[in-house]
Amino acid sequence: MADSNPASARISATLIGAAEVDTAVRSFLRTTPPHRRWDVEHSFDWGAADADRLTEGERSAVEFITLIEDHLPGYFAMYDKFFPVDDTVDLDVFEHNRELYHFSVRWAQEEDTHARVLKEYQIASGIADPASLRHQLAIEGRKRFDVDYDHAVQFFTYPLVQEKATQIYYQRLRNVVSDPLLREILGRLSRDEARHFAFFCDMVEQYLKKYGDAAIEPMREVIADFRMPLADTIRGYWRWALRIADTATYDHTDAYEHLIKVVNRAVDAKSNKFDELVDFVAACRSLSVGARVDVGETVN
Ligand SMILES: [Fe+2]
Ligand SMILES: [Fe+2]
Repeated sequence: MADSNPASARISATLIGAAEVDTAVRSFLRTTPPHRRWDVEHSFDWGAADADRLTEGERSAVEFITLIEDHLPGYFAMYDKFFPVDDTVDLDVFEHNRELYHFSVRWAQEEDTHARVLKEYQIASGIADPASLRHQLAIEGRKRFDVDYDHAVQFFTYPLVQEKATQIYYQRLRNVVSDPLLREILGRLSRDEARHFAFFCDMVEQYLKKYGDAAIEPMREVIADFRMPLADTIRGYWRWALRIADTATYDHTDAYEHLIKVVNRAVDAKSNKFDELVDFVAACRSLSVGARVDVGETVN
């Protein structure tokens, strides 16, 4: 094993096979036939964008999700660090990473489109002008996004929860905003996030099938330490996050139950480890609901 890249060397011992990754990637790529693809330049009537139809909280939510999506270079760099496609890894690991790369470049292209469509909406609707928006995004964008897991399954568990949480948020925000163009954009975004979520589910299922209980404890650790992206770097993140959550009646722990569903589907004989994970997720959920009550928010 070449070890000039310690980060990838550490996790390469717990990978699934390249063929399993290939299967998951193929099924992901099949979810976007050419007639369902969209882009910023051709798919929207930008002249109809109207931020006057939004509340202050909804405008703030648009600004928040633009920042999160715009951090794509930081998220994408993670694949390069932990799943390199070069001579720092052995051949079998390279095969795995090369298959994963087919996903990560398509995923990155889609997430970059998310960032661009939200920026375009801010500009077209009058929320921001291009120069100050670019500057604002640069301030947060240059901050480092760091994840540091020991087990490969964790790199798929984290985005499974995060993509689901994002999908739920976009759906709920879509349900409350009054600008039809923004509703259309959020509809497109939430469908993409659902497809991303499905890919990570497929990957986590493969890990559970190969490693069983040995994969469950690392997954529990991901939930124990879970924060949405940029929670540690955006100034005033928690205050802002609570406010945007309130705008769309949202709680990111809503996504946790989807992790349990994946484990349920993948594991036939339920072990003590599985029961512990279910209990743990339930405890995280009730803690989160308790926290919302503490800050005087409505719990639905
Ligand atoms: Fe996205
Ligand atoms: Fe996504």
